[in-house]
Amino acid sequence: MPKPTSRILVINDEALVLREFVKGLNAAARSIDNPLGICFAGVATAKEALAAIEGDGDIQAVLVDDVLYSLPGARKNGGKKKLQMSAIELVKRITRFRPELSVYILIAQEKEDDVVDALFTEAVDGYFYREEKDYRGIYRILNAQIQEVAKTPFYDQLKNYVWMAKDQWHTPGHSSGESLRGSPWVNDFYEFMGEHVFDADLSVSVPMLDSLMEPKGVIAEAQAMAAKAFGARRTFFATNGTSTANKVIFQTLLAPGEKLLLDRNCHKSVHHGVVLSGAHPVYLDSSLNGKYGLYGPVPKKLIFDAIDEHPDAEALILTSCTYDGLRYDLAPIVEAAHKKNIKVIIDEAWYGFARFHPEFRPTALEAGADYATQSTHKVLSAFSQASMIHVNDPGFKEHLFRENFNMHTSTSPQYTMIASLDVARKQAVMEGYKLLSRTLALAKELREQIDSTRVFRTLALEDLLPEQTRGDGIRLDPTKVTVDVSGCGYTVEELQRELFERYNIQVEKSTFNTLTLLLTVGTTRSKVSRLYDALMRIARERRSPRRLVQTPEIPGFTKLRFLPRDAYYCGGELVPIFDERERVNHALGGRVCADQITPYPPGIPVLVPGQMITPNIVEYLGDLLRSQKRMELHGIVHEGYQPCVRVLKPHEEKGLNRLG
Ligand SMILES: Cc1ncc(COP(=O)(O)O)c(C=O)c1O
Repeated sequence: MPKPTSRILVINDEALVLREFVKGLNAAARSIDNPLGICFAGVATAKEALAAIEGDGDIQAVLVDDVLYSLPGARKNGGKKKLQMSAIELVKRITRFRPELSVYILIAQEKEDDVVDALFTEAVDGYFYREEKDYRGIYRILNAQIQEVAKTPFYDQLKNYVWMAKDQWHTPGHSSGESLRGSPWVNDFYEFMGEHVFDADLSVSVPMLDSLMEPKGVIAEAQAMAAKAFGARRTFFATNGTSTANKVIFQTLLAPGEKLLLDRNCHKSVHHGVVLSGAHPVYLDSSLNGKYGLYGPVPKKLIFDAIDEHPDAEALILTSCTYDGLRYDLAPIVEAAHKKNIKVIIDEAWYGFARFHPEFRPTALEAGADYATQSTHKVLSAFSQASMIHVNDPGFKEHLFRENFNMHTSTSPQYTMIASLDVARKQAVMEGYKLLSRTLALAKELREQIDSTRVFRTLALEDLLPEQTRGDGIRLDPTKVTVDVSGCGYTVEELQRELFERYNIQVEKSTFNTLTLLLTVGTTRSKVSRLYDALMRIARERRSPRRLVQTPEIPGFTKLRFLPRDAYYCGGELVPIFDERERVNHALGGRVCADQITPYPPGIPVLVPGQMITPNIVEYLGDLLRSQKRMELHGIVHEGYQPCVRVLKPHEEKGLNRLG
């Protein structure tokens, strides 16, 4: 098994003191048990320190001298030493850059109170007196601190339990895989999955593994460590994805009829959350990049206008970053919302790693958001469905949240998923910066390689940004690579098939003109090379390029007649989209939809429950259904061969409260 390296950087401007210190500490590290590979390196200036912290992903902690003077050669003012940077300033810079690092201060005896007072509000983990030269003592404390951060309380306990090999008189029924092992019919499943998948599949009957619904032990501890790592007051592990996380927050913050501002392009779980909570949604239209048929963020002005127009809203939810990697300049948006006491929820399903590299920050929480939901499984090393809910809301109502969380949580959660969240947090803290630096370098390399084919073209921020959002401070997460494939001559479907069948490559998603590739902490140089090789070979086929496919623009949002929840729970009736002569059925115009109708791609609902259907929308749905292109239409019901929409019956409309 590879052994970790934990480098600790000592920053001191006196060459002799520094050399002696580093030597003493390394000797201590060699002479005492050192499972984390702790070693010490020294630098004399703040500048060198910051460069080392930027360049060396193995640095886990820093020891900063309380005052850093310039080097002797740079003395000014009649031979007096010139201050380079105060400890407080250096600590601030270090923690702004890599908040996961442990920071200790070396203080000169006489200034103890001043230093401790000045650093009181900073994230300092401890102090040592320089003059004591207690190298073994310092080493032991640093070793303990790094071990503490590297702990995985839940995963450790799960392993302990498995190794205890207790007899199981409880669920699950496979009982550590005993029901499968040796079976002539299903033993292959056991062999394929591996013994520990079954050993670790345990249940609430094991108290030492704590309870996800009322955590007081190792789950509580693991969640607290995640909160610290991700910069939240509280963190909760969700085992049914961000889909559930969003719904839990909605049901906590929104009572029926209360207003929610939301991007119409939010994930479908957000729209489902509107139905479940009974909220009154105010939809903000996402911007459209007409050229590539990509829906982007909501223009900043539109968000500010909505906040001004609806100061009675309880919450605002936006997705940042989007599936395509576009992220908002969140701080001013959060500030505007907070001025009206509107809570801000940011769906960071695609951005769970952001805290661990300055390229991606500020995170939603750092920008002031009250809640952030993250699909840890999408971009970090957690199992599918494993997500986190981070809370920074000063008015957090824990009791209400807990009720809603438990309402959506299975009483038999998958323990391996919880363990994977614990491990994903540990990895992000210990080596997230290093891995993300590598991912960023690979993303840059991949973009250059793809562009060098001169047939495929990666889209830069300027290509992706819809016109209306230029100047909104939106940035691109470079690990999401969108490629214009129109130059290769294949349709997107053909290209995906070719990549899959001939080159063994599966991409993340596609639109009519683009493919999106997702780079994560698991992306390797070999994968990059294989993809480049495949694209280069396809490019060399020199097929004639296609024209960009025009994506049909989704009609603007029409009137919301009733609360989505009220409309959804009506029985309704099915009305066909085409009449007997295969023309669009104009009788649908003026009716109120009971379901959510979402063409995919792009995944934006054209209709939500309670929304009025206009002739324009019927035409649009008719066009999509007649088109030969592959497109799913979620929410359309087929009665025989007839595609239908579920709408409210006239008497059902009469029985409901109309909005505005
Ligand atoms: C923006 C957004 N939010 C939420 C989700 C749901 O996340 P999960 O798959 O973890 O349930 C997705 C999934 O694709 C998403 O794209």
